[in-house]
Amino acid sequence: MKEFTSITQLGGLQQALCEAARVKKTPFADSELGKNRTLLLVFFNNSLRTRLSTQKAALNLGMNVIVLDVNQGAWKLETERGVVMDGDKSEHLLEAIPVMGSYCDMIGVRSFAGLSDRESDYNEVILNQFIKYSGKPVFSMEAATRHPLQTFADIITIEEHKKKARPKVVMTWAPHPKALPQAVPNSFAEGMIYGGYDFVIANPEGYDLAPEFTEGAIVTHDQNEALRGADFVYAKNWSAYEGENYGKVLSRDMSWTVTAEKMALTDGAFFMHCLPVRRNMIVSDEVIESPQSLVIPEAANRVVSAQTVIRRMLLGL
Ligand code: CP
Repeated sequence: MKEFTSITQLGGLQQALCEAARVKKTPFADSELGKNRTLLLVFFNNSLRTRLSTQKAALNLGMNVIVLDVNQGAWKLETERGVVMDGDKSEHLLEAIPVMGSYCDMIGVRSFAGLSDRESDYNEVILNQFIKYSGKPVFSMEAATRHPLQTFADIITIEEHKKKARPKVVMTWAPHPKALPQAVPNSFAEGMIYGGYDFVIANPEGYDLAPEFTEGAIVTHDQNEALRGADFVYAKNWSAYEGENYGKVLSRDMSWTVTAEKMALTDGAFFMHCLPVRRNMIVSDEVIESPQSLVIPEAANRVVSAQTVIRRMLLGL
């Protein structure tokens, strides 16, 4: 793999899951593979899980890791071409990217949606410039429209816990005080369709996701109806995608919070969330602390998903 920006780039999912199971069982089996190879992680946005799990994955493979927080200590970067750089941005991404590429063998990039210009966000301007100009294999650590390492970890977690061949997975919108990107729900929807799960999306009116990610899923505005018979409940907030409301918060309806009463509608479902999560907005204390909550093993599987992908990149597979 020369790039990893979408879960679908894994090819056959069963083969990828076999590789992930092997990585999880024997995490140091390839500890010589990355010897004398350097991974650069570039963060335009905050992170806890991605930052730590991706470093751990690379260390398990014997790589050196360097991390750049673009907004803390680096020169402010201009991303648009043609701009007269007479403001506070001292360096252009078009020089910075090949320079970064000259210091490493592989690059991970985190660059969220700005949520003001849908076309720019959905064109993945920053991630695609790294792919075009770095000269090195590039993987996404969450970009404007997808979070594939999270989705891969989510699928690994579902496969480890499912009790039937084709479980019912419900992704439900839940309230949040701030506008959040659509990257995680887009990517999860893409992953559920790619994996052939019985997949339902529940969101209030005005919150339908981009059709390119949801084609093949059942979409409903009735959360209770969606939750009936669910085997997995995946909660997430996202801001509006559609039209002039792009990037806006249209609702903080607390009746969408995932509570014990909501979980009682399911078929004893497991609860999932990518974290970080706002307790008692997205999910009640009771649900996230319950035995059905998978949020910690889900986060732990981020090492497995990252290591499986980086290993493939090192092998040139
Ligand atoms: N789930 C996830 O990507 O977490 P971080 O934002 O903390 O990396």
